[in-house]
Amino acid sequence: MCGIVGYVGPQACAPILLDGLRRLEYRGYDSAGLAVHAPGGRIEVRRAVGKLRNLESALREKPLEGAVGIGHTRWATHGRPSEVNAHPHVAGDVAVVHNGIIENHMPLRRELEEAGCTIASDTDTELVAHLVEREVQQGKDLEAAVRAALGRLEGAYAIAVLSAKEPERIVVAKSASPLVIGLGEGEMFCASDIPALLPYTRDMLFMEDGEMAVLEAGSVRLTTVAGADVEREPKRIDWSPVMAEKAGYKHFMLKEIFEQPRAMEDTLRGRLDREHGDVHGHEIGLSEEDAKGIRRVLLLACGTSHHATIAGKYFLEEIAKVPAVIEIASEFRGREAVVGEGDLVVAVSQSGETLDTLVAAKEAKERGAKVLAIANVIGSAIPRMADAVFYTHAGPEIGVASTKCFSTQLANLLMLSVWLGRRRGAITAERSRELVEGLARLPTTMKDVLQGTRQLVANLARRYVDARDVLYLGRGLSFPIALEGALKLKEISYVHAEGYPAGEMKHGPIALIDSSVPAIVLVPRDRHWERSISNLQEAKAREAIVIAVATEGDEEARQVSHDLIEIPAVDEVLTPFLTVLPLQLYAYYVADFKGTDVDQPRNLAKTVTVE
Ligand code: G6P
Repeated sequence: MCGIVGYVGPQACAPILLDGLRRLEYRGYDSAGLAVHAPGGRIEVRRAVGKLRNLESALREKPLEGAVGIGHTRWATHGRPSEVNAHPHVAGDVAVVHNGIIENHMPLRRELEEAGCTIASDTDTELVAHLVEREVQQGKDLEAAVRAALGRLEGAYAIAVLSAKEPERIVVAKSASPLVIGLGEGEMFCASDIPALLPYTRDMLFMEDGEMAVLEAGSVRLTTVAGADVEREPKRIDWSPVMAEKAGYKHFMLKEIFEQPRAMEDTLRGRLDREHGDVHGHEIGLSEEDAKGIRRVLLLACGTSHHATIAGKYFLEEIAKVPAVIEIASEFRGREAVVGEGDLVVAVSQSGETLDTLVAAKEAKERGAKVLAIANVIGSAIPRMADAVFYTHAGPEIGVASTKCFSTQLANLLMLSVWLGRRRGAITAERSRELVEGLARLPTTMKDVLQGTRQLVANLARRYVDARDVLYLGRGLSFPIALEGALKLKEISYVHAEGYPAGEMKHGPIALIDSSVPAIVLVPRDRHWERSISNLQEAKAREAIVIAVATEGDEEARQVSHDLIEIPAVDEVLTPFLTVLPLQLYAYYVADFKGTDVDQPRNLAKTVTVE
C-alpha cells in the first residue's frame, strides 16, 4: 500500500511530484523516492528512508532536473523500510514505481537470478523493473515491453514506468490497485488518488483493472493489457485543491472533524425528498419490487466503516424491518458463508479500495447477491465492482483516522433504511417524515455540538491524558459509537481503550475498573437510558472516573458522573451522529497533548490494500 505519482509535460517535474507525494503520504510513509529523465538521456533517482521531508533534503543537496518523472511514497509490504527497498526501482535503463503486491514474486526472483540478474532489493517491485528491462533489451519499445512483463505478473499493481530510451513518455498500468490519470493542457499526470492531482487539473480519467496507458505531454492512449484500444470519457472532479489542504487547522483530522456538518450537508444534498417525507433512492439501484423482495441485508466492512455498519444493522432492522447481519470483511471472505440470491450486500468503505472488503463483496456477488457500495472515493474499486453505488460526499479524507466519512456513512445507511422502509411498508409516512426532517437538521445540530463541546472536551483530554486504559460503554445505537470512540483513541494516541456494550461490562471489563480508569459512558435519553444509567453507577461504584455523554438537562446523569458532556435532544435514531463528535474530539486532543503524529499514526495506513 503505497502512493505513486507521475508527470510528463513542459515543467520541472520534481516539485510537482513532491507536491503530489505530500498529498499521498497518507497512503504510506516509510520511505519515498523520485526518478526523472535527466538531461543527457539518463534516468536519475533520489530515494530516502522516512518521511517525505528526508527526500526533500536529499533533493536540496542533489537536485533533479527534468520534465518527465515518477515518484513514490512507500508502506512496506516486501522488505523492510530502507533506502535500497525504497522506490523507484531501476534495472538498466528502466525505472518503476509500484503500489500493490506481486504474488508470484518468489518464482520470478528465482528465474531472474538464474538468468543472471543482480537484484539489489528485497522488493517484489524490482523484479518488475528487471522483467521490463529484459524486454527492452530484446528490442521492444517501452509500451510493448511493459505489456509483455505484465503478462508475467500475478497479484495487485498500479505501476508507472520510465525508460531512458524514451524520455518523452511514461507507461502506466493497473490491476487491483488504484490509478487515476489527470489531464492537463499540454501536460499529463498520474497518481494513486485524486487529491495529489487537484492543484493541477480537475479532469480525471479513471483506469480499470487490466488496462495500461501511455502518457505523453499532449496525449494519453488507453488500452487493455492485451492491446485493444479503450475509449473513456474523463470525469470532472469538483473537489477544490483547498479542500484537500489543512485549511488552517493544526491537523487534517481536526479539520475533518469540523468539516462534518458540511460533509453531511453535501451527502444529504438532493437525496432527501422533504415534500413527501421520503428519500430519493435511484442510486440504490433497486426497483420497488426488488426492495420488497430482499430477504436479508449483509453489511460488509472493516475498521471504522465496520462500526458504521453496526449502526446500519440497527437502522435497517428498526426502520426497514429487514433482517440485517454484519460481517467484518476479512472474516467473511474465504469462508463458506451462506449468501446468495435475495441478499442485498452493502459494502461500506471510505476508500473503496480496502482489499478485504473488495474481495468479500466479490465473493458474495459471485454467489448471486446484489452488491450496493457505500464509498467516498469516486471511481474506486468497490463501487466499480458493485451493482450500484451510493456515494458519501464527504470530500477527501486525509487523516488516517476516519471521522467525517464515518458520519456520512451513517447518513447513507439511515437513508437506505428509510427508503427500504417505505418501499416495504415497514414505517409510516409520518415516521419517515420525522426521520427525513431530523436528517435535514443534522448539519446545524452537529455544528452546535462541535462548537459547544470543543473546549470542555479539550479540558477533559488534558485532565486524563495520562490514563493508561479507557473504557467506552454504550447500549443500542450507542454501542457502535463506544467502539468507534475506543478505536479513535487507540489509533492516534496509542492508549489502550475498550469499547463495550454497556450490558456486557459485568461479564468481564468490570474487572479492569479502578480509580485510574476513565469510563466514558454514553447515556443519551433513549429507550436504554435507565439501564445505561445503572451501568454507569456500577462503574462509578468501582471508583472509575465516569465521563457521561448525555442529553441536555439530564440531571440524573449529571449527579452520577464526574464529568458531563451534553448533546441536544434529538430523535433517538439520530443520537449516534451527535455522540460520536465529542469522542472524536477527545481522541484528537489526547493525541495532540501527547504529541503523537495525529494524521499519520504509527503502523497504520489510510487505505489497506493488503490482506
Ligand atoms: C484502515 C484505516 C481506517 C479505515 C479502515 C477501512 O484501517 O486506517 O481508518 O476505517 O482502513 O477503510 P475503508 O476505506 O474501507 O473505509
